[in-house]
Amino acid sequence: MSSNTKIELDQLTKIFYKRNESVEAIKNISLDIEDGEFVCILGPSGCGKTTLLRILAGLETPSTGDIQIHQSESEKPLQSMVFQERGVIPWMTVEENVAFGLKMRHLPKKEIKERSDYYIKKVGLEKFAKLYPKELSGGMKQRVSIARAFANDPEILLMDEPFAALDEQNKFILQEELLNIWAETKKTVLFITHSIDEAMLLSDRILLMSSQPGQIVKEKKIDLPRPRTMESIRSNEEMAQEFVDIWQHLQKEVQGSRA
Ligand SMILES: Nc1ncnc2c1ncn2[C@@H]1O[C@H](COP(=O)(O)OP(=O)(O)OP(=O)(O)O)[C@@H](O)[C@H]1O
Ligand SMILES: [Mg+2]
Repeated sequence: MSSNTKIELDQLTKIFYKRNESVEAIKNISLDIEDGEFVCILGPSGCGKTTLLRILAGLETPSTGDIQIHQSESEKPLQSMVFQERGVIPWMTVEENVAFGLKMRHLPKKEIKERSDYYIKKVGLEKFAKLYPKELSGGMKQRVSIARAFANDPEILLMDEPFAALDEQNKFILQEELLNIWAETKKTVLFITHSIDEAMLLSDRILLMSSQPGQIVKEKKIDLPRPRTMESIRSNEEMAQEFVDIWQHLQKEVQGSRA
């Protein structure tokens, strides 16, 4: 561990019990994440990615192993999570959803309004601020939950496939926005995706997981200058090779999990 470590996971294992069956979702995950680091997790469906994030968010307890998160002295909340689905509160409007965390912290009304308006605009929902989730599309709901996480201004952002339900254009805008916010605020980001492209565009480091029980089997540092573009990644020979390598790994794991 270095002095700059933000998150430390030591031999984390999670077993779910259902009636007489047990499912080992993740197994012996040990990992250090630096303060301000942007880490992407790639792995086959069902390998325990969401479980890992939920443990970090405090929504699930590990069966064995240790987890340590180093909090700074700030007033900021420690972590916010953008869920893969069902991340919005159905009986609250867009505005109320985004402001929810700020309200819970009893920030001044004016600041709550300013901050939530700012992020509602950033995700392109200002015309929909007064609507309820049932009046929104799936991608719009996802943007509400992204705006809420940004507005909360946590030290750690836990993002579970946040852009998967979005069209390419909104995805691109929000990737840029996330990188801007990350660069400005030096947050630590843990980001799950199924897209190798997205992981290469965003992250400092990619963690590759095996199929169930999920273990971290490979790590790739993405040493590319920022700002990055898809073109610059594609034209980089070393990255092209990394892409193939990650692709093959995932292919093998997915086939393994289907056998
Ligand atoms: N609350 C739960 N109770 C029982 N089993 C669970 C629970 N949550 C997850 N699991 C099981 O743990 C395993 C990992 O699930 P998880 O949702 O973490 O996978 P994932 O990697 O996020 O998959 P995907 O890419 O499809 O989102 C699965 O086998 C799942 O059925
Ligand atoms: Mg998941």
